Amino acid sequence: MIRVNSLSKKFNNLLAVDQVSFEVKQGEILGFLGPNGAGKTTTMKMLTCFIPPSSGTAEICGYSILDDPLQVRNQIGYLPESAPSYDEMLVGEFLKFIAEIRGYSGMELKRRVGIVIEKTSLSEVENQMIDTLSKGFRQRTCLAQALLHDPPVLILDEPTDGLDPNQKHEVRSLIKDMSEERTILISTHILEEVDAVCTSAMIIANGRVVGYGTPDELLSQSLYRNSVTVSLKNENPRKLLDDFNQLDFVYSVEHVQDDREDLVTMRLYPKNKESISRKLEEYLYKKNVQLEQFTVERGRLDEVFRQLTTED
Ligand SMILES: Nc1ncnc2c1ncn2[C@@H]1O[C@H](COP(=O)(O)OP(=O)(O)OP(=O)(O)O)[C@@H](O)[C@H]1O
Ligand SMILES: [Mg+2]
Repeated sequence: MIRVNSLSKKFNNLLAVDQVSFEVKQGEILGFLGPNGAGKTTTMKMLTCFIPPSSGTAEICGYSILDDPLQVRNQIGYLPESAPSYDEMLVGEFLKFIAEIRGYSGMELKRRVGIVIEKTSLSEVENQMIDTLSKGFRQRTCLAQALLHDPPVLILDEPTDGLDPNQKHEVRSLIKDMSEERTILISTHILEEVDAVCTSAMIIANGRVVGYGTPDELLSQSLYRNSVTVSLKNENPRKLLDDFNQLDFVYSVEHVQDDREDLVTMRLYPKNKESISRKLEEYLYKKNVQLEQFTVERGRLDEVFRQLTTED
């Protein structure tokens, strides 16, 4: 549904997007991650035919962004960064206006505007001027605009930016619900969002793709992958550290700050990031310890993100 082939964008001397290639299939939600200035928005602007690429190309539902820009725009619902719209219009007016531009009229126009107002919970502000909306409502108004023509592809540039936790949750559910018959590309700085909604994620830095995979594949690159944190009661930390270090499935052990005086907390990093929880449980059971906490980590996306985006 989205096929990007070696897309680049140069602004004067700055290579903002550098030979980016990727694909998104129907039903997939690809999370687009990267530090500020990495090139996410610029890539999205090229895919939505806002700006032309310097080189490379892309297809949306089989239509080329270079040869068929009008068809491409028909297939896409686009929520641009910072949700731009017309400040002096009322929310309902704005949506009708966009629906007209999209070619709808009469009952069909009314029906479509009604559907998106309901989907994005905008009815209470339908007659409010966009200029006076709170950030979250402004964001949702712009999201509603992107859904009017029921497009097969959605390109959403930081759709949950500035929303309160409840709204974030609602917008994520909405995105997930819509994903079955659609293809969605979303950029975000909220790493847990990737795990919560995306089927795969792509990390870019300085315009280049530096990481790609399912959330779990990315998590598997974390130093914390399958590490186990245990808190034990009434143990000698030195002795415990020695004992854990002797275990053949343990790569290294770290004494973690204890928040209670009677507890000793250790984090054990497995050899080859393999799962060690069963072996460790058996060991602790035999050792006859007083176990207060036992936590296995899947990995930390923020740490993987830092690894991939700060390397030279
Ligand atoms: N029209 C332009 N003219 C010159 N430079 C530009 C232009 N648009 C973007 N850039 C530059 O291109 C680079 C990539 O910007 P872009 O907005 O794509 O980053 P981003 O990944 O979306 O960042 P953020 O997370 O902050 O939204 C930045 O260095 C930016 O300053
Ligand atoms: Mg951006």
